[in-house]
Amino acid sequence: MNLDEILLKAEREHALTRGEIVKLLKTRGEDLKKLYKAADRVRSKYMGDTVYLRGIIEFSNYCKQNCKYCGLRRDNHRLERYRLQPEEIVSMAEKATKLGYKTVVLQSGEDDYYDTDMVEWIIREIKNRMDTAITLCIGEREYEEYKVWREAGADRYLIRHETADPGLYHRLHPGMSLEQRIERLRWLKELGYQVGSGNLIGLPDQDEESISRDILLFKELDLHMVGLGPLVVNPDTPLKDYHNGSVEMALKTIAITRLLLPLAHIPGTTALGSLDPEGRQKALKAGANVVMPNVTRGKYRPLYELYPAKICVDEEPENCRQCIGSIITSLGRVVGTDYGHSPRIEKGE
Ligand code: 5AD
Ligand code: SF4
Ligand code: FES
Repeated sequence: MNLDEILLKAEREHALTRGEIVKLLKTRGEDLKKLYKAADRVRSKYMGDTVYLRGIIEFSNYCKQNCKYCGLRRDNHRLERYRLQPEEIVSMAEKATKLGYKTVVLQSGEDDYYDTDMVEWIIREIKNRMDTAITLCIGEREYEEYKVWREAGADRYLIRHETADPGLYHRLHPGMSLEQRIERLRWLKELGYQVGSGNLIGLPDQDEESISRDILLFKELDLHMVGLGPLVVNPDTPLKDYHNGSVEMALKTIAITRLLLPLAHIPGTTALGSLDPEGRQKALKAGANVVMPNVTRGKYRPLYELYPAKICVDEEPENCRQCIGSIITSLGRVVGTDYGHSPRIEKGE
């Protein structure tokens, strides 16, 4: 099949073989524009022009894991660590809702300081006091904990699988396994969360074949949300001598993901915006329909340093809210005013 035929098939059937995905991942020049346009059409047809905002509260940068690319890894002793108290987290959520956010994302490293009860308390307090959806993004925990938090009112859970190549996964994540990660994604679905995963683009030894397996895994896991971005090299990690991931490859991956998962929520991520000032805009024109601004307040923003030169660390949440609003409007799109739940959940799927 030539490129036009593959795109036609993808737009009609939302299914492709691995070989076809690899071919799309290798497109360049004029063909690339066709790929982005096809993804944009599918986004418009299934998700409309609304762009949903999710306000991220980065409440702790402690992490017990040691992922080789990440600045929060436990062996990075150069990073100043912080933890917000439960009351502070709730108060930041309240301020985010006052800025119009209808989803708060509670994000941290893997930090067991926040035990089952504490996270449950935070969820209940937010749900009692304000009108917002809650997304958790706090890593690998036990089934029972995920269950308690779901019952307390958490709506969604994000946990990227990072790479679908088990060997590469193992090399980059000491003491962790891809199998365990995927098991958790299945638990979360079973518990009724709207589940998001995603990958990193530009990992060492990762090629188009490998990324095609990531995309097929998104499809197999039947995700409600897919968040992905390029690797941004952090000089305080073992990957310090490696190079950044490709913005273009990340955009292609977003576009193909949109073609195959037409109803997924897909963000234009901060990593994309950090490597390319137009990164998030380009993503929104290539299949993405979500943006996740940082709503953390005070001195903590620069300390959640997964990678250097992260955008918005010197801004106030108010500025980001305004900035992102103008970006969305300038693209002829509309800021979402409802929760922006997965359309599949709303249909009772
Ligand atoms: N560059 C880009 N993304 C990173 N993440 C962690 N470190 C980096 C980095 N150096 C991503 C991982 C993780 C998410 C919270 O941040 O994919 O899942
Ligand atoms: Fe911790 Fe997540 Fe960073 Fe890994 S990617 S070190 S789990 S914060
Ligand atoms: Fe933070 Fe633009 S979104 S300054």
